[in-house]
Amino acid sequence: MSVITVLDTQTANSIAAGEVVERPASVVKELVENALDAGASVIHVEIRQGGISYIRVTDNGCGMDETDAQLAFGRHATSKIRSIDDLEQISTMGFRGEALASIAAVAKVRLETRPLGQASGTAVEITAGEMVTMRPAGCPEGTTLTIENLFFNTPARFKFLKKDSTEAAAVADVLERIALARPDVSIRLVSQGNELLHTPGNNDLRSAIFAVFGKEAASAIHPLDYAMVPVQVSGYIGTPEAARSSRNQQCIYVNGRLVKSRAVSAAIDEAYATHLMKRKHPLAVLKIDLPTPLVDVNVHPQKMEVRFWEEQTVFRAVYHGIQNALQSGGAIVESTPLAVPGSGLAAAPAPVQIALPQPVDAPSTAILDYTAGPDMALPDPVGVLVQETPVGSERPVHDATASLQQSQASDAQAAPAVSRPKTITSLQSARLIGQLFATYLVLEHEQDLLLLDQHAAHERILFEQLVARHRSRGPAAVQPLLIPQTIEVSAREQAILLAEQENLLQLGFEFEAFGSQSILLRSLPDSGRYTLKPQAAMRVLLDTLMSDKLHSEEQIDDLYYSMACKAAIKAHDKLDVREMEQLLSDLAELEDPYHCPHGRPVIIRISRYELEKQFKRIV
Ligand SMILES: Nc1ncnc2c1ncn2[C@@H]1O[C@H](COP(=O)(O)OP(=O)(O)OP(=O)(O)O)[C@@H](O)[C@H]1O
Ligand SMILES: [Mg+2]
Repeated sequence: MSVITVLDTQTANSIAAGEVVERPASVVKELVENALDAGASVIHVEIRQGGISYIRVTDNGCGMDETDAQLAFGRHATSKIRSIDDLEQISTMGFRGEALASIAAVAKVRLETRPLGQASGTAVEITAGEMVTMRPAGCPEGTTLTIENLFFNTPARFKFLKKDSTEAAAVADVLERIALARPDVSIRLVSQGNELLHTPGNNDLRSAIFAVFGKEAASAIHPLDYAMVPVQVSGYIGTPEAARSSRNQQCIYVNGRLVKSRAVSAAIDEAYATHLMKRKHPLAVLKIDLPTPLVDVNVHPQKMEVRFWEEQTVFRAVYHGIQNALQSGGAIVESTPLAVPGSGLAAAPAPVQIALPQPVDAPSTAILDYTAGPDMALPDPVGVLVQETPVGSERPVHDATASLQQSQASDAQAAPAVSRPKTITSLQSARLIGQLFATYLVLEHEQDLLLLDQHAAHERILFEQLVARHRSRGPAAVQPLLIPQTIEVSAREQAILLAEQENLLQLGFEFEAFGSQSILLRSLPDSGRYTLKPQAAMRVLLDTLMSDKLHSEEQIDDLYYSMACKAAIKAHDKLDVREMEQLLSDLAELEDPYHCPHGRPVIIRISRYELEKQFKRIV
């Protein structure tokens, strides 16, 4: 008996739909790309429940006549190519003729469309791939597609959908990236009645960046325009100071198509390598244009990947384009030749060198604020630490229960999490010699030379302060700002902050909406003697929220850790004696002063014995 049957169209379409339609965001992407292909200059998207129950996309594009309105839902039905050869010259977003058929197979779809200049339009309703009605309709010129109950007939797929807010965020993400690709088109997104995005469509990329990423980001960018025949790179890149801890603000377009490209990401990383800390990512809206026969766009069902004819040339064009833009934007401070290590791609020739002084951390990027509480002594202007008590005043005296030496031995492994006796005797009685390389404090203690990493030490102190106060809960966890601060955010960031307002209050962040792209911040988490800088602290919070990483206690600790890291004094910050003393005194009060929150050592010890051996005083 034969066992093979050919699947009916509906089943085959539902299976194929999986390739194109993964979640509401992929539906929105397909529909908006269709609107762009139809020449729309205004596109409105409305979603409910993250797009799971409702998506509506309206455009003012060319519309479809009655025949096309029906054909559009057939598989392999497209107006965009006629044969495979056309793919070489493809200039539209769509070409597979799959999207509408796939969407219609797994949802309830309503199409209303009227071609430009025609008296009446057509309405079509399709549910689970079956045409329900088709009739003439009075509708505006252009096209509206309404998608309801996505995956209602494919429970396996429905199960994989995330919570509404996550799906809504994914929709916003897709639209933001499309909006940045097409600043000539006005794109608007409304979710549950709230406007999350609205670009002006005035063909100015900077305005689109403003609408998508907010004022702060848009004011820290440099234009980029670079050609390395046959590759043309243009767009905007962010200043190193405004870099984020995720790649959320990076959008790469190849011939107008949003793509992910390892080669281009690597080129961005390498171009910034000497200007950024590891795991920091600058804003980059890059448009890479090259002759269409030199890119293959048909390697991925969602068209997210492309194949370049010569990846290295694209890498080099992006790398040098960014270098150039940073230099002419005045952001590059570079005195050593740049290598292009480990990218797996050919090293770029060394760029033109400009020798300028070493960068110092711009005060605006640090979280700590000099404006400490009213009764705190202000440090001298070049100082970093805010001091609470005058130097030489009483400090707590602790039991001498363990020596640094012992603790060093036990801390060779990870720091034990259990509470243990304070091991500060050594620090208390150590003699401060001074600062080395503007990075380490040098101390003498009995028969040891101690080197203390000032950044790691301060990070540890701040982290402990934040966590201790959070754990104690209650109003103690809040540090009200003397003057409420306006913080510029994007519309979407504002929506996320407002959705989490209650929870964030528990963490010490008190704020309210202020206009459509800012909030009024009233308090921050209590960080003890130090005041966090509102702008930078909120940026760390937003980065965490935008990557959906604030659910567990562990993730809250991670947030505090990131804030501590950003706020802590840096290597190359010069400290005066008073500040060094303060740091030591604060550190001495910690239960484990020897490790930064992620386990790196804060203090290392070199014994007199080792030194004398080096000098061959003893053999
Ligand atoms: N908003 C729209 N305005 C005008 N025509 C549209 C619109 N959406 C779809 N169409 C027509 O319907 C056809 C089918 O759309 P569909 O998205 O399924 O395929 P495609 O865009 O050609 O290719 P792909 O599957 O790669 O997106 C399109 O080729 C186009 O002619
Ligand atoms: Mg399409």
